[in-house]
Amino acid sequence: MHTILIANPKGGSGKTTLATNVAGWLAGKRQRVAIDDRDPQQSSTQWLERRPALFPAIGLIDADLRRKDAKALDLAWRVIDSPAGLHGDELRESLKSADQVLVPLTPSAYDMAATQRFLGVVAEAKSVKQGNLPVGVVAMRVDARTQSAVELDDFVASFDFPLIAHLRQTQVYVHCARDGASVFDLPRSRAEADWEQWKPLTRWIAKHAPVRGV
Ligand SMILES: Nc1ncnc2c1ncn2[C@@H]1O[C@H](COP(=O)(O)OP(=O)(O)O)[C@@H](O)[C@H]1O
Ligand SMILES: [Mg+2]
Repeated sequence: MHTILIANPKGGSGKTTLATNVAGWLAGKRQRVAIDDRDPQQSSTQWLERRPALFPAIGLIDADLRRKDAKALDLAWRVIDSPAGLHGDELRESLKSADQVLVPLTPSAYDMAATQRFLGVVAEAKSVKQGNLPVGVVAMRVDARTQSAVELDDFVASFDFPLIAHLRQTQVYVHCARDGASVFDLPRSRAEADWEQWKPLTRWIAKHAPVRGV
């Protein structure tokens, strides 16, 4: 099982949006995938409950299943949606269980300040230092080539982590959240611009673990 941890201590930074869409992409590639919803707010659990049965299946790892044995699920992929404020032992444990880490980041001064400390801690993790745990930042709600994007790019450049993709601010994500959908479940006419923006991100994921059909 390959585990992607989605983490940023700031609430509203885009963790659930990223987790649900990464899972939706993998499911669309016919991968056996589940979301491990570690957030007490249970946003991705609720998203899964709204997900139409006809869409590619995504499993849920809840607290019960986590206590038992998630391995019994025979999953190829686990996407961990983490709570706001993740730090200390809980953060270290989450990093230990991950094969890849994605950090969503919105271009606000507050979010960048909160993320600075977090990225500093992540950079000090043994697996990250040894180069065994790839960490990538995803710019959320920002268009490349805007001033906000430049500021965010400069901020990320002060760390050793790559800025993998820019995902624009659009109602498409808001509607997906409401409908239990990912952008990959939508028709081309509605989501083509977003699929384009996801390409470097899905490529980065696939670079570190085989995804059939990519
Ligand atoms: N690219 C985007 N465009 C528009 N709205 C977005 C985008 N990314 C996230 N959102 C919205 O921002 C809010 C916070 O995102 P969410 O993924 O729930 O953050 P977190 O899980 O980190 O708290 C949600 O209402 C979500 O629908
Ligand atoms: Mg969330």
